[in-house]
Amino acid sequence: MRDFGFGFRKLRGQRIRTEWLCKRRCGCYNLDRTCALPSNSRSQLLNEPRIMERFAGLLMFPLFFVIVACFLVVSACSLGGDELICTVESQGLECSSQQTNKLLIQGGIVVNADFQQQADVYIEHGIIKLVAPNLKAVDGVRVIDATGKFVMPGGIDPHTHLAMPFMGQETCDDYFSGQAAALAGGTTMHIDFALPVDGNLAAGYQAWMKKAEESCMDYGFHMAISKWNDDVAKDMDWLVKEKGINSFKFFMAYKGSLMVSDEEIIQGFKKCKELGAVPQVHAENGDAVEEGQNRMIQLGITGPEGHSLSRPSMLEGEATGRAIRLAKFVNTPLYVVHVMSIDALDEISRARHSGQRVIGEPVASGLALDDSKTWDPDFKIAAQYIMSPPLRPAGHKEALQAALSSGILQLVATDHAPFNSTQKALGKHDFRVIPNGVNGIEERMHIVWDTMVNSGKISPMDYVRVTSAACAKIFNIYPRKGAVLPGSDADIIILNPNATTTISAKTHHSRIDTNVYEGWIMKGNIEVTVSQGNVVWEKGTLNVHRGKGRYVYMKPFSYLFDGLDKLDATYLTSLRAPVHRAA
Ligand code: URP
Ligand code: ZN
Ligand code: ZN
Repeated sequence: MRDFGFGFRKLRGQRIRTEWLCKRRCGCYNLDRTCALPSNSRSQLLNEPRIMERFAGLLMFPLFFVIVACFLVVSACSLGGDELICTVESQGLECSSQQTNKLLIQGGIVVNADFQQQADVYIEHGIIKLVAPNLKAVDGVRVIDATGKFVMPGGIDPHTHLAMPFMGQETCDDYFSGQAAALAGGTTMHIDFALPVDGNLAAGYQAWMKKAEESCMDYGFHMAISKWNDDVAKDMDWLVKEKGINSFKFFMAYKGSLMVSDEEIIQGFKKCKELGAVPQVHAENGDAVEEGQNRMIQLGITGPEGHSLSRPSMLEGEATGRAIRLAKFVNTPLYVVHVMSIDALDEISRARHSGQRVIGEPVASGLALDDSKTWDPDFKIAAQYIMSPPLRPAGHKEALQAALSSGILQLVATDHAPFNSTQKALGKHDFRVIPNGVNGIEERMHIVWDTMVNSGKISPMDYVRVTSAACAKIFNIYPRKGAVLPGSDADIIILNPNATTTISAKTHHSRIDTNVYEGWIMKGNIEVTVSQGNVVWEKGTLNVHRGKGRYVYMKPFSYLFDGLDKLDATYLTSLRAPVHRAA
């Protein structure tokens, strides 16, 4: 939309009088030039249906021409207790208010997953109120100039492990340090994996709630399932219906600790389907991994390189295929976390081709790195890169990138599971006890921009899709999250495509003392992060507060479950059974 002079604007090619639209909309065109509109109706006003524009443009312009001169400043919109005042002048729409906590991001390109436009974004009390061109701030509205920059939804990282006990250690970022790092890198929400405590899901949920008291940004939980019994089933009910968890992870690896059997997976998948919760799998064949590890030790291979050699990509492919078939058998959607190889990718691709609802999640490290560093003669360097499934030889990451750009894979996570070099050193003489995990919560948004957008593999709109919108849709929190739209949470980043980002353990905000992207220099920098309407990252400075983070309830039955009942009915009909036979 372009400003067109005194009280006129150009909406999709039509000249219209904005105050007339205001009058038509709220029916209160007062002498004091104000009108009352519902809280989101200013943006609706600016997006009136075409028929209204035409009517306004063609019929009303001549009629009101004289009146225009009398009304230089026109509509005021007042709603609820918020008293947002919006006026239209020759230069466009102005917003002002006596209240604090107001922010106007001006002049940027606002990018959503399905649309981008030159527009300004007005925020009040943590919520986006307006997205429209030519907004102007007065009185107490803080203005941020985003000219030449992209204004996008803050990232949502669907896969993290903060303060997680694992392999005898605890990941070295807690909810505060991990989230502060995330905000510095443009991620404004994450979904963390809560683990059961001694197999008890309710206790796991409570333990994670306690950890999250330190939060400085919004978060949600997935819950892991490490065994199957009636109590687990009951707790799943409780977590979904009362506690806002709508996804459960089944580990097909980590034999002896988290790994579950096919029998447990089938029961768990059935329960997930009943509850409308998304089942997730860590897909590696844990029995075969154990065999591979023993083989390496027998061969005298005890260093970090033994890790990837012991769990080749075929074991990831096998487990991915098995999980997909079990999900098909149960007729439930499936979400495959940290897809690291062509083998797994091929299984997902085949399933999606056949119409099966399978979501594939690559992680930043898998898209950007290969396994070469695990052969580094310096143990400290090699051990940093140990994660499961492992980083793969050259060729896999390129295939993952291609699959992300073509839509075979849907969203990018980090699997942020940081262990510092002292923790990693515990496996100096035996790769099997190196705590598995790499950093990424702070780097993901830049790594994806560089690897995928700078290389021309995806557009900025795709970038929004894979870094926030797809996640928000899958976990049923869209458009509260994952969008720059009126009514959405004001979780926003401003990315300058011409600035440079350098990654180093010396400057990052995570507690980990190494960084798997050490020395990366790339074009594109997230200069500003807005979380809950507050500027929390700006000019290289964090402004975050413990306890500010909010737990985000995620309702069950996301779009992935739509129509499953019909597929079930078709299946039952196809059985043509039981056959009624004469006695
Ligand atoms: O190596 C990894 N991925 N560590 C975190 C646990 C997991 O499997 O997600
Ligand atoms: Zn995993
Ligand atoms: Zn993980």
